[in-house]
Amino acid sequence: MPKLTFIGSGRMASAMVEGLLAKGVYSTSDVICLGGSGTSASALAARTGILVAASLEQALESAETVIVAFKPQHLAGADPRLAALTAGRLVISVLAAKTIARLDRTFPKARNLVRCMPNTPAAIGAGMTGWCARSTLSEPDRATVTGLLGAIGKELELPEAQIDALMAVSGCGPAFVFEFTAALREAGIAAGLERSQAQMLALETVLGAARLMARTKAEPEELRNQVTSPNGTTFAGLQRMSARDFRGLMKETVLAAKARSEELSRQE
Ligand SMILES: NC(=O)c1ccc[n+]([C@@H]2O[C@H](COP(=O)([O-])OP(=O)(O)OC[C@H]3O[C@@H](n4cnc5c(N)ncnc54)[C@H](OP(=O)(O)O)[C@@H]3O)[C@@H](O)[C@H]2O)c1
Repeated sequence: MPKLTFIGSGRMASAMVEGLLAKGVYSTSDVICLGGSGTSASALAARTGILVAASLEQALESAETVIVAFKPQHLAGADPRLAALTAGRLVISVLAAKTIARLDRTFPKARNLVRCMPNTPAAIGAGMTGWCARSTLSEPDRATVTGLLGAIGKELELPEAQIDALMAVSGCGPAFVFEFTAALREAGIAAGLERSQAQMLALETVLGAARLMARTKAEPEELRNQVTSPNGTTFAGLQRMSARDFRGLMKETVLAAKARSEELSRQE
């Protein structure tokens, strides 16, 4: 009997299912999914070998853990039977900007509720997910949550009050890195490179630098200093970044994203 249920079977559910199966956290017969009116659930089941439910009742019949992975805007119109059908189960939501208090209205009888915020690199197992729980998790439930989220990358528990800040850094962060990479490419073109050359150089540089940071575990400033000789080329470039207050710009960027996240969380 399946013990893990996905309600919503789109991109985020797919990333989680693929990660869980690849890491052997669950086997195909342990997992069942349900979608909306479209074909996402049958497509996910056909692609991965997990089960597809014909009804909400069947989806939740034997579930120990329920992952809520539809769009945040679907929560308001969610099936009212969810309250009874999730009673006593561990419910994990990936819905952006939906607070524990809001989730509690739809899943009031869940044995515990976890709000998490993954990011898009989760699709390749390189995600960064922050999470918080309604109340202290039992040891088995904690192991379930860390096992599930660990299948799509790294996970970090933090108080709900910090989720908007996390959203601004790791939730939106991939887009900031994509924009930085595009800016590096455009600057390369301005410096005289072909677009395809500049694209490759920018991408491989971001990738290599990120891997180096992860591998050495050194602070980025330390790695920066290692490649910056006084009055050298990197020094000339960094001086311009500092003169244009690059760090101030990043701070404004993250604070704007955080403010928007707070606004969306308040809208419920
Ligand atoms: N994608 C990301 O990188 C990412 C990152 C962080 C958080 N998230 C969160 O993950 C959640 C899902 O995002 P996604 O990108 O996976 O969306 P998605 O690909 O559009 O998938 C949405 C899923 O919800 C199903 N659905 C539609 N209406 C429903 C209903 N009334 N009840 C139950 N399920 C319904 C859809 O089924 P049909 O299409 O078959 O109708 C589909 O399976 C969102 O809440 C988002 O905030 C996503």
